[in-house]
Amino acid sequence: MCGIIGHIGQNDCVSLLVEGLKRLEYRGYDSAGIAVVSEGMIEVRRCQGKLTQLEALLGEQPVSGSVGIGHTRWATHGPPSDINAHPHKVGPVAVVHNGIIENYLPLKRQLIEMGCQINSETDTEIVAQLINNEIEAGAPFEEAVTASLQLIEGSYALVILNERQPDKLIAVRKESPLVLGLGSDALLVASDIPAILGHTREVIFLDDGEMAVLTQDSFEIRGPDGESREKEVAHITWNPVMAEKAGYTHFMEKEIYEQPRAVIDTFRGRISESSGEVFLDDLNLKDELIRSLDKIFIVACGTSYHAGLVGKFLLESFCGLPVEVELGSEFRYRDPIVTAKTLQILISQSGETADTLAALREGRTKGAFLLAISNVVGSSLVRQADGVLYTQAGPEIGVASTKAFTTQLVSLYLLALYLGVKLGKLTLEESQECILELVKLPKKVETALGEDQLIRAIAREYANARDFLYLGRGINYPIALEGALKLKEISYIHAEGYAAGEMKHGPIALIDEHMPVVAVVNRGLTFEKMLSNIEEVKARRGKIIAVSDDSGEDLAGKVDALIPVPETTPFLAPILFTIPMQLLAYHVAVFRGTDVDQPRNLAKSVTVE
Ligand code: AGP
Repeated sequence: MCGIIGHIGQNDCVSLLVEGLKRLEYRGYDSAGIAVVSEGMIEVRRCQGKLTQLEALLGEQPVSGSVGIGHTRWATHGPPSDINAHPHKVGPVAVVHNGIIENYLPLKRQLIEMGCQINSETDTEIVAQLINNEIEAGAPFEEAVTASLQLIEGSYALVILNERQPDKLIAVRKESPLVLGLGSDALLVASDIPAILGHTREVIFLDDGEMAVLTQDSFEIRGPDGESREKEVAHITWNPVMAEKAGYTHFMEKEIYEQPRAVIDTFRGRISESSGEVFLDDLNLKDELIRSLDKIFIVACGTSYHAGLVGKFLLESFCGLPVEVELGSEFRYRDPIVTAKTLQILISQSGETADTLAALREGRTKGAFLLAISNVVGSSLVRQADGVLYTQAGPEIGVASTKAFTTQLVSLYLLALYLGVKLGKLTLEESQECILELVKLPKKVETALGEDQLIRAIAREYANARDFLYLGRGINYPIALEGALKLKEISYIHAEGYAAGEMKHGPIALIDEHMPVVAVVNRGLTFEKMLSNIEEVKARRGKIIAVSDDSGEDLAGKVDALIPVPETTPFLAPILFTIPMQLLAYHVAVFRGTDVDQPRNLAKSVTVE
């Protein structure tokens, strides 16, 4: 799990590589490096630590060149260290890699037996060794790469430099993303669009097995058969400024505040307030297939999994179909009951999560219709699915997912309405009512954000707690899970989300005067039950932070803190309840001084199983 970038053009590219890596730091940030061709020689600068360390190193040991590659790493094989940092240079070959070479150990043994000297603990150095050996044996650059790849099992996006042909850059991919950027004075290649967006909007997404051969003024893309192929050029509309912090202290804070806009963008152009229709053009789901469905299976990881749990309520309520929700990492190891009558929905912000992609492949073998809900245009998930529903959150840089989650909920709401009407379970009038509520939502999200200072004060009071418990019921139980996940990943405080009714079956033993309990208290069906749960906590001297759309004395008189959210329908309430969860976690983390945008041990997209 790493970010990679490459440049070939007329002008010095060192600062471009470093700037590009900054946009890719969300993919990993335990070490970084660049390699550039300088006066015919490849110069490597790499070190453990974040990009600031690399910048310091480049200050001490400057380098320049117009052909170069760069890497920001999230360790898989070999701990973060200078020697394990990329690029890896062997002989005339320098390589940056994102992915995992699964058979690197037997390959390493063979190479050592052949007398090769292996310096790092990484799987990537093996690739550089293999290509070097081919070149030393007389193979032309492209053939050396192709021959080496034939020996490799696993996933990779690789960008490769060769000192003997310094005017050429080769990029290849298998199960790891790679996008080619067509600049006016340079060609670029990167793991993700934000890295090159400042230089071009014209891109080509490389597919599995493809190789891009880049020179200063030309490029060629070859398929797995080695034949040249034409590829579609995509125009990217994202503004580079959208990927900047725009005055906020952290990307996470900025992204929390972007949610009113992100929610609008996700439903804009997809609904008719007058007819009650929902338009989801890229689903590719034929009416006949929709009518034949007997089950929906949602598969996702982390926050996206929590969105799936909410989606179950929406889809079962609006469509009358049974819905199962499964973690990507569990799905393919238990022979799930999936058939050609199953709609398998895969939710992934990045579209690159290895466990979710593995679940997609499992669903493919069982004949399900595969629908991706993703935030990234052209991501691996989207390209392998049968249909797509894009969340329109815009780039999410903070490792803790915020706007991606709420836009996933909006997308699932739209999908449930769409399918509900198609299946005849929902009339257009009913759908219209739901749409009119959705249209009011962005303003209510703004109102929920308006409680920021209250939430900050609460966060200050509880920032030193050792544990938190989050309780919710029904469609808001996943919001308790999500609140707990947000807190633990950025503040490093232990937190657990629980279905409130389950508290008496175990977690109640944890409650004492030191335990803050965050309760999601929605008016309606489970309101009274939640009040009873709150009583149970208070009787054991626990502290209650309630998040509620009810401000009556019955609740307000019982709790230590009350964070109000606006009223909406039960089906949209999870979106509004999520906002205080995000802000609470954010402020607690800021008070504790953690690295909010890049919490320890985590990476934005988890491209390893
Ligand atoms: C969310 O805050 C997490 N960082 C993480 O759980 C994330 O949601 C998970 O890794 C799935 O990512 P995806 O949506 O890109 O597939």
